[in-house]
Amino acid sequence: MTAPRESDNRDPVCQPLSSEQAASLARLFARLRQADSENFFHPHPLTAKEAAVRANYSGRDFYCVMLQENAVIGYGMLRGWDEGYAIPSLGIALDPSIRGRGYGLILMNFLHDAAKKRGATRIRLKVDSRNHRAIELYRSLGYVLEEQADRQLIGFLTLASADSRKDA
Ligand SMILES: CC(C)(COP(=O)(O)OP(=O)(O)OC[C@H]1O[C@@H](n2cnc3c(N)ncnc32)[C@H](O)[C@@H]1OP(=O)(O)O)[C@@H](O)C(=O)NCCC(=O)NCCS
Repeated sequence: MTAPRESDNRDPVCQPLSSEQAASLARLFARLRQADSENFFHPHPLTAKEAAVRANYSGRDFYCVMLQENAVIGYGMLRGWDEGYAIPSLGIALDPSIRGRGYGLILMNFLHDAAKKRGATRIRLKVDSRNHRAIELYRSLGYVLEEQADRQLIGFLTLASADSRKDA
């Protein structure tokens, strides 16, 4: 019963966000609100309306989800390209019930790959200085974080070999 299992359909998968995930994404947003995750993650209101907007978005920015058995358990984004910035700004959030399993790392690596495929050489992010879990995750990936005003840290990561697979 307790034998280690091979990869199965409970393993999380990351993929670009699509319109059919709007309702499941809205349910994730509701769980994030219930867990007060909005204190640390507030790229936009965590409402069903915003879930529908993001799920039907088309543009240069990138939105993705982490799925487990077709349910959205994570959400990630690279934003700023639409506004003309060269360095995308990254954000992630995981369902409170599946944190601490290393899924944050999987989602981060997926976003880094997506950024490289879109030609980015660096990524930026902002994180609250009290968000120790996220800070540990970002530092473990090589982000260099600097203090800013209002308890915010700003972080940058230089992506390795971003220009070696332009056709990927
Ligand atoms: C940030 C977030 C995505 C991290 O995902 P996660 O998979 O749960 O991350 P983990 O629990 O694996 O923790 C990442 C690292 O932080 C460390 N960590 C975990 N809990 C910690 C805590 N309470 N204090 C300090 N470090 C902690 C872990 O040791 C881990 O490092 P390791 O991989 O070397 O063991 C997730 O916590 C989340 O969705 N938070 C709410 C939204 C949010 O804050 N988003 C980021 C906004 S900038």
